[in-house]
Amino acid sequence: MAQLFSPAADTWMRLFLVGSLSLMAGGTVGIIGFARSAYMTSTDVRPQQPVPFSHRHHAGELGIDCRYCHSNVERGPQAGLPPTETCMTCHSQIWTNASVLEPVRQSLAHQTPVEWTRVAKLPDYVYFRHDIHIAKGVGCSDCHGRIDKMALTYRAKPFTMEFCLDCHRDPAPRLRPPEHVTDMAWTPPADAGAKGEAIAAHERIRFGELTHCTVCHR
Ligand code: HEC
Ligand code: HEC
Ligand code: HEC
Ligand code: HEC
Ligand code: HEC
Repeated sequence: MAQLFSPAADTWMRLFLVGSLSLMAGGTVGIIGFARSAYMTSTDVRPQQPVPFSHRHHAGELGIDCRYCHSNVERGPQAGLPPTETCMTCHSQIWTNASVLEPVRQSLAHQTPVEWTRVAKLPDYVYFRHDIHIAKGVGCSDCHGRIDKMALTYRAKPFTMEFCLDCHRDPAPRLRPPEHVTDMAWTPPADAGAKGEAIAAHERIRFGELTHCTVCHR
């Protein structure tokens, strides 16, 4: 059957519908307040996971680099969640009988991935990719907060349009040298503006274009 709308037209149709619904609701200050509340942006929610995996323990205390488990983060749109084999490089040796790790052992035995509940997710009509952000010097903590301090993982920042645009309007002061992208404790230097401008020039950041709707809705 012939396709009536291109995928892009379909995206715009859905955006139009969502947009007009939020306009109708926009009249009431209370509703706007609600829309911006932690409840609506899903920040600070710590869902129960099949295994109580702790970034504080693994990334913070043991110091395992993010890319050891999220190995696709520099290479593609998605960071990816680690396969069970990655856990087993250590847990076939240590804590081998711990009951909290039973779902991990089951997953390996049955070759079915552990079903993690996602905390960082965008609606389908938003286009995002990790690789370009990492390559240009945007650090994980700018978008995910201090993951290395989380006993159970939660969304630290609201993934609203305003959150993305805030940086896309002027990314320079937020850029860091590439060797620090996974460094959770990195803080901008006093001359972050000048240093960032230099990185932006080197990386050929397309100033002014990054707020165009089609960057994120295509
Ligand atoms: C580089 C080695 C390493 C890898 C890889 C690793 N772990 Fe661990 N894990 C440890 C160590 C060490 C401990 C702690 C033992 C202790 O507390 O003395 C631990 C403890 C745990 C615990 C017990 C609770 C806690 O945090 O103390 C859970 C649950 C756990 N790991 C899950 C996982 C899962 C799921 C994966 C894969 C996504 C994984 N681990 C990958 C080394 C590792
Ligand atoms: C030992 C493996 C391991 C390491 C190291 C690790 N992670 Fe994770 N990460 C996981 C696992 C397993 C999950 C899924 C369970 C959860 O949400 O806690 C996860 C989930 C996440 C999520 C939430 C994704 C979602 O949508 O639910 C983010 C964000 C994240 N990790 C970022 C990081 C960052 C940043 C680092 C480095 C500071 C890091 N991780 C280091 C294993 C790891
Ligand atoms: C510019 C903001 C930004 C940066 C920088 C960033 N992330 Fe993400 N991350 C996101 C967004 C947005 C999502 C949700 C994507 C979606 O739903 O399509 C996400 C999702 C994830 C997930 C869930 C699984 C997946 O494949 O999407 C993991 C794991 C993750 N990020 C890890 C990392 C790590 C590790 C780093 C640093 C090396 C990092 N992120 C840097 C914004 C960012
Ligand atoms: C802290 C800064 C920062 C934040 C936050 C941020 N971005 Fe970006 N984004 C950048 C930079 C820098 C680039 C690269 C620009 C360039 O190369 O010209 C970029 C590029 C992009 C691109 C272009 C990819 C391409 O193929 O050209 C998309 C899409 C994108 N961002 C989506 C998002 C979305 C969606 C969010 C919010 C969830 C977000 N960004 C949050 C800094 C940021
Ligand atoms: C840097 C990325 C980015 C750019 C550029 C961007 N958006 Fe968005 N947009 C988002 C994200 C992320 C959401 C999802 C917000 C949420 O889930 O709360 C969104 C949501 C929306 C929605 C749904 C309703 C709402 O407000 O939440 C509409 C409509 C929309 N965008 C229209 C636009 C238009 C029109 C432009 C150009 C002027 C634009 N967007 C540019 C990232 C972007």
